[in-house]
Amino acid sequence: MLSRLQWIYLLDTTLLISALALQTVNFTGLIIHEWLGLATAILIVPHLLLGWTWIAATTRRLLAGKPDPALNRTRINYALTLALFACITAQIFSGILISQQAIPWLTKTPALALTANFAWDRIHKNFSDYALILIGLHLAINWNWLVAAVRTRLGWRKAVA
Ligand code: HEM
Repeated sequence: MLSRLQWIYLLDTTLLISALALQTVNFTGLIIHEWLGLATAILIVPHLLLGWTWIAATTRRLLAGKPDPALNRTRINYALTLALFACITAQIFSGILISQQAIPWLTKTPALALTANFAWDRIHKNFSDYALILIGLHLAINWNWLVAAVRTRLGWRKAVA
């Protein structure tokens, strides 16, 4: 049975690889792009549940507004995480609206031409660019945690919280 930390590694690595693979349709082809996009949408739910302690504790800390020297970094981290969540939600929502394969197959309805849906198509591509930048910043700001977690995984130090 995997530990909580092992689940986090597995899930986060899968999410990172699929986020990169989703960046260009040419890489996977449209059918895989759409199904991988939908699978990613589902995988974000356990990702949020596993990070729920951080989300709840940070929300409470920021709302309490107590003097805290580490609060600025936390504020930036929280704002980046929220912005990333908003971008991914916009990507998935617009992706579903412009879907040419998966959603028409699931709903048994004909796909709407991309030219008729160009606004959602534009939103889908623009938010993917914003999300890519935010994923980079998200990794950068959590870099110390990430390095500590990888070291723990490789047995180079004691387990991180
Ligand atoms: C987090 C998830 C997703 C990301 C990061 C993402 C990213 C992208 C990007 C960057 C493009 C433009 C690629 C290019 O020009 O080569 C694209 C195109 C496209 N995506 Fe997604 N996508 C996601 C989810 C989805 C989902 C769930 C669907 C549908 C079920 C979908 C349907 C499409 C379609 C139909 C296109 C082609 C648009 C066109 O050719 O004008 N995407 N996606």
